[in-house]
Amino acid sequence: MQRRPFLAAGTGGLLVAAVAPFDARAAENGVLERTIHAAPYAFSPSANASFSTLAYNGSIPGPLLRVVRGGKVRVNFRNDAGRPGTIHWHGFILPNDMDGVPGITQAAVPNGGSFQYAFNAEPAGTRWYHDHDGAGDVRGLFGAFVVDEPHEEHADKEFVVVLHDVADMKSFRAAMQGRSDAPMTDPMDSAEMLAMRPGDAMNDEVAYLAHCINGRSYPSGAPLSVNVGDRVRLRILNANPTETRYLRLAGHRLTVTHTDGNRLEVPVAVDALRLGVAERLDAWFEVRKPGAWLLQTLLSTPTAYQQAVLVATPGMEQSSPMGVSSMLDGIESFTYLGAGGRAAALPPYRADRTAHYILDKDPHVPGRWTMNGKSWPHVPPLLVKRGDKVEITFENRSDMEHPMHLHGHRFALVSTNGTPFARPLLKDTALVAPWKGTMTWRFVADAYPGTWLMHCHNAVHMMGGMMTEVRYVA
Ligand code: C2O
Ligand code: CU
Repeated sequence: MQRRPFLAAGTGGLLVAAVAPFDARAAENGVLERTIHAAPYAFSPSANASFSTLAYNGSIPGPLLRVVRGGKVRVNFRNDAGRPGTIHWHGFILPNDMDGVPGITQAAVPNGGSFQYAFNAEPAGTRWYHDHDGAGDVRGLFGAFVVDEPHEEHADKEFVVVLHDVADMKSFRAAMQGRSDAPMTDPMDSAEMLAMRPGDAMNDEVAYLAHCINGRSYPSGAPLSVNVGDRVRLRILNANPTETRYLRLAGHRLTVTHTDGNRLEVPVAVDALRLGVAERLDAWFEVRKPGAWLLQTLLSTPTAYQQAVLVATPGMEQSSPMGVSSMLDGIESFTYLGAGGRAAALPPYRADRTAHYILDKDPHVPGRWTMNGKSWPHVPPLLVKRGDKVEITFENRSDMEHPMHLHGHRFALVSTNGTPFARPLLKDTALVAPWKGTMTWRFVADAYPGTWLMHCHNAVHMMGGMMTEVRYVA
């Protein structure tokens, strides 16, 4: 039976954009009970654009979920999307059977079916949730999830900022076959563009039809309203399925305090943020004077202006806002090394398990991506015992970056491209640079036992086989 998609409440988009700062009294109410309903949806990020797609509870992003750390989460997932689905809780440390991976941690929920997710919200931070069966998340099945830390520093205003773009599914399918003529849209002097070699096709994998922040294309979204003197916290998620994003707030530096929801030892101030697919950054700024500024991503496409939202003090909403150039030249961007700081050497580590992965594309099968020459499900799983100290290294032989993600754990990112960090970053997803880029993770296998996916979060690469498992054995 065809159900009508849920109608979004009138202010749905606004509710996603502006969230009340954490209120310690809310901590007493540490229970989150929600129904998440996946269904077809006509997504309209601006007055003259409409796309027939999928959504949770009739909005893209789906409802913002929020609970205090340790709180009980009970989500009743109902699937009417016309395809099987699951919900994965990205960045959570939870029992394996709640992880939402079809065929591994649960059977996919068929169309018309439902599933109860129940777990305790751990750890605190900016996290998210998304479909994990095929390309459901690419079509719109995702949302942000904030887990509050009761004794954290207070922000006067807090905004969740979800970057997302409407994928042209034709180009997505072409990319899966290893051919796509989507134009490249990164800033001209970005790491992504500079990685291009003579003779490379100037192609991205997927073409995007609209660019959004919190489900709106500028200028159609409501402004983020701030007051002079406010210390403002942004919780930013890159929900684009294939592309890294650079983000700036005109007239302000941004102080990054958390990577993937996890506190940095030392905050770092930058001009521009850089977020790989599925990564989150928490960044703060202070409002020093009245004004109107654009919070915008840097893209070199004619529709780049769409991925922006106005930040304004009262009465300034109608004045023409300050913007930024789409170039990175002469400005400081967030980098892992900038946040971690250079160390002379890595501290010694007696790893019980080590694994090395060469990331590449299959030279013989277009659209197939490999780890050590093999594609999912043929990449051998990494077997660990509970309590093992694990070290994983990646080496990227391909010409594209790979946002590698591990389910159910946080790892310490201890080095990239041969440079050890003085202050390892706690993350769940991290970009391996193209052309021989390297990366090292360390973690203790002290999460919940089970089978945990480890994969590239670029949807094209993941579905093309760049995926394996970390499997706990007795
Ligand atoms: Cu956001 Cu398999 O992950
Ligand atoms: Cu990849």
